[in-house]
Amino acid sequence: MRAAVIVPAAGQGRRMGSLPKAFLPLAGRPVIAHALEALLHDDRVTQAVIAIDAAQAADPPPWLTQLDPRVCIVAGGQERTGSVRNALATVASDIDVVLIHDAARPLVSRALVKRALDEAGAGRSVTAAIPVADTVHEVGEDGRVVATPDRSRLWRAQTPQAFPHSVLRDAYARAAARDVEATDDAALVARFGVPVFVIEGEPRNLKITVPDDLRLARAWLQNGT
Ligand code: CTP
Ligand code: MG
Repeated sequence: MRAAVIVPAAGQGRRMGSLPKAFLPLAGRPVIAHALEALLHDDRVTQAVIAIDAAQAADPPPWLTQLDPRVCIVAGGQERTGSVRNALATVASDIDVVLIHDAARPLVSRALVKRALDEAGAGRSVTAAIPVADTVHEVGEDGRVVATPDRSRLWRAQTPQAFPHSVLRDAYARAAARDVEATDDAALVARFGVPVFVIEGEPRNLKITVPDDLRLARAWLQNGT
């Protein structure tokens, strides 16, 4: 089995105070370097396509291009979907499985990457996810609670998400034809009627979104717990 990983890293980090999250330091290395270590550990991965800001992609940081021969850099899009689409366009045709993982999730484990690749290698589309702990309300524009879905059926999506290559390619082709955007690739694939299954994610596999998330990740890494 041959796998490609796609790492969207072209966001503007607006909720972080407009800082490029993938390149902020975390325990002595850029955030994205942590994620790449877990992703590149699996030797079924033969290609790692990283989407970064278009201006930066024209002159990418040498540490990134020299990190591993499997790494290639593409320019990201305005939205995450566009970044994934650009990366997918450079995935080699002989790739069986594509795994997508946010650069902003540095604490993913090698074991979770392995499980996602195993599943997609067996033909199943999967997303890492965590059962929600809190009750979730759907709230109307006037602030009124309009629905409270059964919590036991709600999961918070994470990445990695992994798919047979043909499944992801077809979903992106159909999405482009209908001008569909999605913040989540599992949702995009499921929208076209392909079954997508959850695999148990990891509480520590948080997405660095606001400054407190980075503080938390630093504390976890420092304590070694
Ligand atoms: N991403 C991307 N291209 C975009 C937008 C997002 O590759 N046009 C990537 C981000 O770099 C990140 C992942 O998608 O690794 C998840 O996105 P998010 O957490 O929303 O990051 P940002 O868009 O950078 O942050 P914000 O929404 O706060 O601006
Ligand atoms: Mg965003």
